[in-house]
Amino acid sequence: MTDQAYVTLATNDAYGKGALVLGTSLRNHKTSKRLAVLVTPQVSESMRAVLQKLYDDVRLVDVLDSGDSAHLALLQRPELGVTLTKLHCWTLTHYSKCVFMDADTMVLCNVDELFEREELSAAPDPGWPDCFNSGVFVFRPSIETYEQLLNVCAGKGSFDGGDQGILNHFFNKWSTSDINKHLPFIYNLSSIAIYSYLPAFKQYGADAKVVHFLGKVKPWNFSYNATTKSITGESQELFSLHPDYLTLWWETFTFSVLPLLMEHGVVKESQTGLKAEEVTEAMSHIHLSEPPPPPPISSEERKQKWEQGQADYMGADSFENIQKKLDSFLK
Ligand code: UDP
Ligand code: GLC
Ligand code: MN
Repeated sequence: MTDQAYVTLATNDAYGKGALVLGTSLRNHKTSKRLAVLVTPQVSESMRAVLQKLYDDVRLVDVLDSGDSAHLALLQRPELGVTLTKLHCWTLTHYSKCVFMDADTMVLCNVDELFEREELSAAPDPGWPDCFNSGVFVFRPSIETYEQLLNVCAGKGSFDGGDQGILNHFFNKWSTSDINKHLPFIYNLSSIAIYSYLPAFKQYGADAKVVHFLGKVKPWNFSYNATTKSITGESQELFSLHPDYLTLWWETFTFSVLPLLMEHGVVKESQTGLKAEEVTEAMSHIHLSEPPPPPPISSEERKQKWEQGQADYMGADSFENIQKKLDSFLK
């Protein structure tokens, strides 16, 4: 599908790392869509070169900043004025339909079915569920819509100082007009919601499809020990991110993204926090230039093989995986 794409945004190298993990997760789960990333001039040349390896389309755009410190103070996120830059996604008119995903999201499975939805489809915001969260949404690029959105910015402005305020004002029928435009919450599961309604997370969390590390603290603000698989950080807010998702983010980063960043000199070996043998291990995972691995066998085929006594003890049917499955059932 060349006229449909996932789109994300990075206005600096830190969010660039997020975009690389997101893009890797989409590729790992065999998306058939294009991958596009909007970057601003603050993103370094070398980071752009790495993004180019993973993304089909790396688009340079101007920063759009609300500069609205009053509303951003209410949101307690003074840095989010630049999220208006996200609105540039409507200018990607060589695509007929797109799914925007924040650079702090990651897919846990293939979510290409999102493209069956119409503009503007999104999941409820965990803080105010009559508003949608603008971390994941389906839209149709259109210069007309883009100009109308800029008019809202110039006129009324954004009630939260960022893109989510503008978009909820513009698509203000979202909460009442068409239930098909309400994406299930599992397409934008934010850490905040996990802790604010833990019983629901225990009940439905296993169905999660997209994780969103919403909030001030992002996965890339921590350090990771690849040997012990432990994550450390100065901030107490480490505990506001779910440890399993955080570990998955760091695993993806260490083995798929870091090798590319080292190859392009964005990160030096001494800055990785990894031991020499871990660096070698990480570098051996560079797989982007190699042919993709064979598709995993279906669960039916796997069941048949298992019943014929041909279990994949070293892979999908390893003791570790079986134990994980049991643990998740018992939880
Ligand atoms: N973003 C960016 N640079 C910034 C802040 C935000 O590129 O300095 C982009 C990035 O794609 C990010 C999105 O805007 O995921 C929304 O910001 P963020 O995810 O930090 O907001 P939250 O979801 O935590 O409210
Ligand atoms: C929200 C969204 C984010 C958006 C920000 C500013 O919390 O998660 O995507 O950029 O608000 O409006
Ligand atoms: Mn976000």
